[in-house]
Amino acid sequence: KIESVKAREIFDSRGNPTIEVDVQLNDGALGRASVPSGASTGDREVVELRDGGSRLRGKGVLKAVNNVNGPIRKKMIGESPYDQHHIDQLLIELDGTPTKKNLGANAILGVSLAVCRAAALTERMPLYRYLGGVDCELPRPFFNVINGGKHADSGIDIQEFLITPIGFDHFREGLESIDNTYHKLKSILADKALVTSVGDEGGFAPHLGSSEEAIETLIEAITKSGYQPGKDIAIAIDPASSEFYKNGTYHFEGKQLSSEEMIRYYQQLIQKYPIISIEDGLSEHDWESWVPLTKQLGKKVQLIGDDIFVTNPAIFSEGIKKGIANSILIKLNQIGTISETIETIKKARRAGYTTMISHRSGETEDTFIADFAVAMGAGQIKTGAMARTERVSKYNQFLRIEEELGQDTIMTPFPFKENLSHPSL
Ligand code: PGA
Ligand code: ZN
Repeated sequence: KIESVKAREIFDSRGNPTIEVDVQLNDGALGRASVPSGASTGDREVVELRDGGSRLRGKGVLKAVNNVNGPIRKKMIGESPYDQHHIDQLLIELDGTPTKKNLGANAILGVSLAVCRAAALTERMPLYRYLGGVDCELPRPFFNVINGGKHADSGIDIQEFLITPIGFDHFREGLESIDNTYHKLKSILADKALVTSVGDEGGFAPHLGSSEEAIETLIEAITKSGYQPGKDIAIAIDPASSEFYKNGTYHFEGKQLSSEEMIRYYQQLIQKYPIISIEDGLSEHDWESWVPLTKQLGKKVQLIGDDIFVTNPAIFSEGIKKGIANSILIKLNQIGTISETIETIKKARRAGYTTMISHRSGETEDTFIADFAVAMGAGQIKTGAMARTERVSKYNQFLRIEEELGQDTIMTPFPFKENLSHPSL
């Protein structure tokens, strides 16, 4: 039974306040969880409750903390921690709004996660097992190695350039290959007298002229590390294009492009480079154009919806009906409870969409998403580069899980192989 619930204000990786929740059970088990925060958020994400005013730039979360320590605590005391769906339903009902704006989705998610962790602890089960992981596979890691957009002042419009170990079966060897590439990239940038300081997600933020230059530099790093681009390591991008979509056009690299021109741009990019995945290629306010985007590129590459679906089962259902995208990014704090997130993942599976679990650009040391990705058999995860402990901690958790599962455990095979050169893939 839940004996106590207590929240506090802590700080995230950008030095902004966020919420941490402790849930204690009557046998003493203490589940602790903290909540991340995005910068390039989707407009239809649930509400992250902030205090406003002048304290901590208006970003304080004391209102959310008080909501946990007051009404939520009252509701949770005495409840069983094992029925996650029931717990989440109580939280949703107590809030009473579709956007979770009364209690704050940050308050709600903190409790949802902490209850789950307490239940796993009292059962003496690893979190990924408690969450249902039986015949486990590890997700393929996507390292965000060059940061642009809202995550860095690199002047590059595409927010994320990622690399993934496409030609490897096992997590550790895959991770080693992209770690080598990340370090090679650093020395290549240094040789070109470009800055090697990192952005919010641990990727470098060099002042490069264009996105193509960023991709070329990545290919150089892959090759010089002894790997074959498109065979061993492939590239993914997250333009986060909602951020540069204004008045119906994409303000991209000094030009104003229509949706058709953006699609053509991506078409050229994937012809030229071993790009296997494009996230938020078009804006969350450009639903109609996602149809031709999906028709034209969806057979060749993974098209992930992040801002457009915001992990929301109802919004995602509309997208499935319209046949847009073929993959969905999963961020727990976009929807606010574990069970709604699982509902979205199940929908994806039924509709044949792939899933990628994701960190946020503002993170904490909490590694919940690592266990969650394994338990869900999510297939893919992006949680930054091999820098900044709030990113590395997630990758380290996968190494522990891999060790526990045994070295035969594989990473889920990547299904979009048409844009890869390796004949055996
Ligand atoms: P965010 O960005 O966490 O700043 O929203 C991540 C993403 O767009 O995938
Ligand atoms: Zn994104």
